Amino acid sequence: MTGTTAFIKAAVIGHPVAHSKSPLIHNHWINQYRLAGHYDAIDIPPDQLANGIEGLISEGYAGFNFTIPHKERACDLCDELDEAARLIGAVNTMQIKEGRRIGMNTDAFGFITNIKTARPGFIFTGCTALVLGAGGAARAVIQGLLEEGVAKILLTNRTREKAEMLATVPQIEIFDWEDRHDRLGEADLLINTTSLGMSGQPVLDLRLALLPKRALVTDIVYAPLHTDLLKKAETQGNQTVTGIGMLLHQARPAFQAWFGVMPDVTPALEKLILGTADPAL
Ligand code: ATR
Repeated sequence: MTGTTAFIKAAVIGHPVAHSKSPLIHNHWINQYRLAGHYDAIDIPPDQLANGIEGLISEGYAGFNFTIPHKERACDLCDELDEAARLIGAVNTMQIKEGRRIGMNTDAFGFITNIKTARPGFIFTGCTALVLGAGGAARAVIQGLLEEGVAKILLTNRTREKAEMLATVPQIEIFDWEDRHDRLGEADLLINTTSLGMSGQPVLDLRLALLPKRALVTDIVYAPLHTDLLKKAETQGNQTVTGIGMLLHQARPAFQAWFGVMPDVTPALEKLILGTADPAL
């Protein structure tokens, strides 16, 4: 980089935001690629989000990540949305481009790229995925699975109505949370998007012995890295993918939008983040 390169600023905005790992990730890449810039964590309460962003844009910020509780509200503050943000109904990344606010959602990319990187042999096309949970993360997971051409998504959630709201295409079948053990037999891919199994949360109660040995198991929880679900799956011979890669890969397209470099996920970065692992993005 030359001395004339502009100093680029970006930030994660949340409420609270102190536990976000995004500053560690993006500042690691700024250093790795020897760029002139900085990535901050900024706490803005929901009722001040519009004004807060306005002020930061006038200070020259190149863009933002949004975390809890802003991802849905941020859609309304964008001039345009990419297809993923529109379909998921949430914005996790904003790029300021020629004064326009471009809203993006990189969570589906993060989820799919994590599996493709960790298990390159796994074939999404035509498979049956069983998704546990129907919160914000599940929306992105489902969008990613549909883009990859899965044949069927079996979706269940403790609160059935929330799952039903996500059943927007015929490939998605909703079933009762109580039936989650019995439906395992149909799955080629099992995904936990609930907070069950996270440090401080109850474990996920699942009769995993009913899952076929061919099935790949992944958890979006990454604290602990090897959740009870993943440990049980490994013990009975199923392939697994941990959740940390989703966090790291979702950050890549955002970094590229602001800093112009598509960054790599390296073992050093993974180690840095796991050393301070915490459930919040
Ligand atoms: P995120 O944005 O990370 O998906 P969320 O929107 O709060 O977080 O969603 C949390 C998910 O974990 C939901 O599917 C939630 O189920 P409900 O919709 O019924 O609340 C699920 N979850 C949390 N605690 C649970 C529990 N004790 N048993 C079953 N599901 C639980």
